[in-house]
Amino acid sequence: MMPSYETEYQRSLSDPAGFWAEKADILTWHTPPQKTFSASFHKEDFHIKWYEGGTLNLSENCLDRHLETRSHETALIFEPDVDGPAKTYTFQEMHKEVCQIANHLRGLGIKKGDRVTLYMPMIPEAIFSMLACARIGAIHAVVFGGFSAASLADRLDDCESALLITADQGQRGGKIVPLKENVDKALSLSQKKTVQNVLVFQHTGATVSMEEGRDLYAHALPANADCPAVEMGSEDPLFILYTSGSTGKPKGVLHTTGGYGVYTTHTFKDIFDYKPGERYWCTADVGWITGHSYLVYGPLLNGATLVVHEGVPNYPDAGRIWQIVEKHKVNILYTAPTAIRSLMAKGDAHVTAHDRSSLRILGTVGEPINPTAWTWYKDVVGENRCPVVDTWWQTETGGILISPLPQDPTRQKAGSVTKPFYGIQPALLDEQGQEIEGAGEGALVIKHSWPGQMRTVYGDPDRFFDTYFTTYPGYYFSGDRAMRDEAGDYWIRGRMDDVVNISGHRLGTAEVESALNTHNCISETAVVGIDDPLTSQALMAFVTLKKGKTWDAEAFPNELNHILRDVIGPIAKVKIFVPAGDLPKTRSGKIIRRILRKLSEGQGDQLGDLSTLANPQCVEDIQKTLKVGKSV
Ligand code: WTA
Repeated sequence: MMPSYETEYQRSLSDPAGFWAEKADILTWHTPPQKTFSASFHKEDFHIKWYEGGTLNLSENCLDRHLETRSHETALIFEPDVDGPAKTYTFQEMHKEVCQIANHLRGLGIKKGDRVTLYMPMIPEAIFSMLACARIGAIHAVVFGGFSAASLADRLDDCESALLITADQGQRGGKIVPLKENVDKALSLSQKKTVQNVLVFQHTGATVSMEEGRDLYAHALPANADCPAVEMGSEDPLFILYTSGSTGKPKGVLHTTGGYGVYTTHTFKDIFDYKPGERYWCTADVGWITGHSYLVYGPLLNGATLVVHEGVPNYPDAGRIWQIVEKHKVNILYTAPTAIRSLMAKGDAHVTAHDRSSLRILGTVGEPINPTAWTWYKDVVGENRCPVVDTWWQTETGGILISPLPQDPTRQKAGSVTKPFYGIQPALLDEQGQEIEGAGEGALVIKHSWPGQMRTVYGDPDRFFDTYFTTYPGYYFSGDRAMRDEAGDYWIRGRMDDVVNISGHRLGTAEVESALNTHNCISETAVVGIDDPLTSQALMAFVTLKKGKTWDAEAFPNELNHILRDVIGPIAKVKIFVPAGDLPKTRSGKIIRRILRKLSEGQGDQLGDLSTLANPQCVEDIQKTLKVGKSV
């Protein structure tokens, strides 16, 4: 009999080395690890290491080891943007595709440790390219195809990419995404010019400009599927993924090989209760961490059959997602609350028109899910048969940290992520940094390292330590606030820092402000997140103008959002602009966002003592603007 969650969880805490040593056996190692882990979150001896001495290759673990028993079984089903013939790949075929791309990379001089940036649509070649990098030990850095050329250029420069992999164009919700065109712009914007070659997959077949000597079509290169996998050390980097934080530019979150592999394999297996032969569909894009851990690595390491969809769940209509479930007999579906809420708003008929009897487990991730949406997902989509797993985690955590296990009926609680996964020790801290015992609410921190934890900020180890381990010394601080109820179940409240979560996409208010400030009439801006019924949060920007300029309610909002689109991408869009004469500041000139947040929530009566402000009058003025609805 399987041990109960309680027994396993207690064992994972009382004997973490023994527990995780045993769990490592789920992967195939060239050399077994010598030491399970060694970690400290304290400044004096700060380090995080898992499975030292072990060597393995995750591409081999995702593909080669399944060949012996399942080479002719389906590994991937590709569903195009609009309904049409799906394309399938067996494990054998996928192995061949990956090896061919890996050989293209080798032919272009890419070797272990080199950085390769991917700017791809959601097509099988995106996944193949990630695994091709892993196969030869190159570090992949996937940049979401919805980011602008300027964002891409920043990321290329930050990790000094030697190669860029892209496609002619992507298709998303009936729209064309001009990927190669953006790549050309990004390469001209790049300061460091480290990219030697661009490998281009033909997808839509559109004519795109190809620079002689630099750009190469993948299909025109010699096809050679013989590519041995490079033996990687457990702590050798696997990938970099950029994510927004409260300050400065997005940071390159670095994940390594052994621990990440073990952690994503087990979390996928247990949280989605994966059974061999099942079809699993994760709607996330490969540009996000969910696309890495639970679209590619976790499922493939378990030998799952993936459904990959190029488009969006609600195009051409709100029935598309359920039509795909029916068409490909999806057993496990993993999506985001924003998608669930927008589909719910379109009515049940779109759902019930399609057969969903194949569905067994429903997952959600990325934002707090409100109980109404949770209940709709469970009752209407899942016909009250399928457990819902609301999974809490972050780019930094590599894998899911807090989530229900689907077999446990006591963990089906609308709006709660319930309990920690094995080996994870969450704690809630009060304002003095003291641990709260029992029920309560506070800052969500994690007490000990786990195998999937990020290892550093690429190129900036001090930033890693300062961002996550200094607010509450000795703990990993998630940036989230959470509540724990009497039963010990967790409820995520949202971010405590200057990170805004829009439809599950993270944006730092500092990035948005620095982009807005480039407008020639703007003196300063302060951006805060406001509640939004559909997208969870939206952006509100308080703006002050340069001397002599006046606010143009017609032109400025468009111009400013246009700048955001160019600098960051279409996900960055301010919903409400509030022109202000001045912004509340400390005497040393720091903007006090806390006051603006309160004003945005209509809590102007709860501002506390304003006497320390350099300019208290401006608060009243902003309040007046908000009251008379002069904001646009
Ligand atoms: C939020 C996404 C509530 C949270 C995997 C976290 C959630 C941030 C949940 C990380 C959830 C993620 N319930 N909030 N189930 N899952 N979040 O790095 O604020 O894109 O800190 O990783 O999303 O976003 P990221």
